[in-house]
Order: sequence, then structure tokens, then C-alpha cells
Amino acid sequence: MMYSEKVLDHFTNPRNVGEIPDADGVGEVGNAKCGDIMKMYLKIQGDTITDVKFKTFGCGAAIATSSMATELIKGKTIEDALKLTNKAVMEALDGLPPVKVHCSVLAEQAVRAALSDYYARQGIDPEPIVGKLKDVDHDHDDGDGSCSCG
Ligand code: FES
Repeated sequence: MMYSEKVLDHFTNPRNVGEIPDADGVGEVGNAKCGDIMKMYLKIQGDTITDVKFKTFGCGAAIATSSMATELIKGKTIEDALKLTNKAVMEALDGLPPVKVHCSVLAEQAVRAALSDYYARQGIDPEPIVGKLKDVDHDHDDGDGSCSCG
């Protein structure tokens, strides 16, 4: 499998790894089939994401995409973070192999899940703002509900 240099860089040297104990929003998403889990922590002041950290238990592409996603939203407004797509994350990483596209969807959805939590904590219904969270299951499997792409 061919990874771009940027993917390898973010995989071997991921940015913003860790937790934020007093986070304003925490999102966790998982992929039922490969079992990969991504947890995203946001610190928000006004409408700006002042800090972001993540923990990913998963494949190399899941680590690289969550690392890149944190870089793309750090210091940005909530509005900008809501516009972050898995496509933008992939482009910033110079692409991903087709079987790894779903890993970038996990990163996109982890950011959205954390923003949903941020609104929910304030008693605001997140769905009209953040939208429905996507089903982040694999778009493929090896026929028995599992995959060997990890
Ligand atoms: Fe499941 Fe990458 S997130 S293989």
C-alpha cells in the first residue's frame, strides 16, 4: 500500500496527541467493523477553537487523518471547523489509498461529534447546527464483516 510522505509523517509524528481534561467538547467515534476508535477534545473560547487534542486507537491512516484534522481546525472558528470535510483532510495529506478513505471520514466525524457535545453541554440541540453524524462504518469488508485493511 502506498502512502504519501505527509501521511507517513503524520503517522510517525502525529500532532496534538493527548487529552484536554477540562475540554469544552469531547467527541468519540468508532468504526464497528475494524474496531478503530477516535476521540477528539476541543477547547473553545467565544467561537474560536483554541486547543484541540486527539487519541486514536486505530490504523495508521486513522492516526494521520486525525492528526491532520486537528491541525486544520486549531485556531479556527467553529464555523470553519464545521466546514471541514474528509476530502479536505485527504487533500491536505496528498491523498489516501481508496481502502483508507473511510479513515478520513472518521476524523471528520470525530470533529463534528466533539462540536455536538460542545453544544449539548450548553443545552443547545446540536443537530440543526452540526447535522446528523454519519454512519462511519466501513464502506467495504472482506465478506465476513471484517476487514484486513488495518
Ligand atoms: Fe478502520 Fe482505518 S479506521 S482501517
